[in-house]
Amino acid sequence: MLSSETNEKITRVGPGTPGGELMRRYWYPVATSADLMEPGAKAVRLLGEDFTLFRDKSNNIGLIGQRCPHRRVNLRLGIPEVEGLRCPYHGWMFDTKGQCLEMPAENADSTFASRVQIDSYPVEELGGLIFGYIGPLPAPELPKWSLFVQPNAFRMIGSTFLNANWVQCQENSIDQTHLEWDHGHWGLYALEKLGITDERRWRGFRRAKRHHAKIAFELFEYGILKFRLQEGEDEATSQGWNHGHPLVFPNMVHIGQRGEQEFQIRVTIDDTHTWHLVYHIYEPGADIKVPEQYPVPVFDVPVVDLPEWILPQDLIVWEEQDEIMDRSQEKLAESDKGLILYRRLLEEQIDTVRDGGDPINVFREPHDRLHLEIEDYGDMSTYVPGDALYGNTGTLPGDAIYQVDQLFTKARDAAIARKGNG
Ligand code: FES
Ligand SMILES: [Fe+2]
Repeated sequence: MLSSETNEKITRVGPGTPGGELMRRYWYPVATSADLMEPGAKAVRLLGEDFTLFRDKSNNIGLIGQRCPHRRVNLRLGIPEVEGLRCPYHGWMFDTKGQCLEMPAENADSTFASRVQIDSYPVEELGGLIFGYIGPLPAPELPKWSLFVQPNAFRMIGSTFLNANWVQCQENSIDQTHLEWDHGHWGLYALEKLGITDERRWRGFRRAKRHHAKIAFELFEYGILKFRLQEGEDEATSQGWNHGHPLVFPNMVHIGQRGEQEFQIRVTIDDTHTWHLVYHIYEPGADIKVPEQYPVPVFDVPVVDLPEWILPQDLIVWEEQDEIMDRSQEKLAESDKGLILYRRLLEEQIDTVRDGGDPINVFREPHDRLHLEIEDYGDMSTYVPGDALYGNTGTLPGDAIYQVDQLFTKARDAAIARKGNG
């Protein structure tokens, strides 16, 4: 349980709030590359503020203020030009730095345009996502977390807009035991109610419902490592107990295993809305060359009341905790100790920013890749076609599923052939 004041402190993200100040030290996805493939503009809301994102005809990307400084029209309706975005109302044109370049209605000798600017923000495209930064300058480096830059990987991005504060979404990543019920018992209940008889689906949820014999947590340089040992697993060999999964502060979790990994990213739109992204990568291994992807395919992950797939089982319970969960009314038990650790870290980092410091995961040095450890279950020779895609969301895009399955099947055959040869 938290006091109402502390709940406000960690959940509110608007400008000038303690939590908002912390969250303004990080880069966020503001769109997928697929959202803005062609020159054009798009409305973006981040941390309770509104912006316009655009791509011009020279493929430059800009993140600027929401409205035209002339008569305040929303620039999401703008016309992309060779260099910049033009307001639809009177044609004022702005470049990616927010500088006004043209005011068509003014006399040719007017210099007014050179004195008009709109706010602009750093923006970068990486791994099929467009990231923006709206905090104090100088901006830190855009973190190159492993999966965004993983070579020879096939990617897919699942997207959901949620009516929920970001903290309750992120707290799920440190809440180990929800696996047993949310993804185990409740999943089995959904399969039964919906009359789904596919044995692979039942197997997945039966596995999830195994009781947690032990849970443990450890702070590490990027956040918190969480470990679980479930009934029937051996302490010496359990990947979940010996490797664990990293919660990457403040708003990401890394799950899966080598070959099939994902980030879940909670993008804070405002106090009561979160853009949830699941960033999948599939790695068939060095034997197989994965074709270039542009853009990375994006699919919608639905929010439904009786979810028969894993991620929607999480999404719906976060919404059902209320728009901003009232932590002054909760009752935490012993198995919730991870939540306490995460909240403590969150509060501590808010205080670090208040005192003028950089919180963790703000990187000032250029880097190629930030490595995160993950579980590893061996080579591809035991791969069963279709398995990598099993249990995900049920809404994966058909073409992309087919491509992943083809890549993995080829990788399995190559691994079997290599074993046969040697
Ligand atoms: S309102 Fe944008 S140019 Fe006039
Ligand atoms: Fe979950």
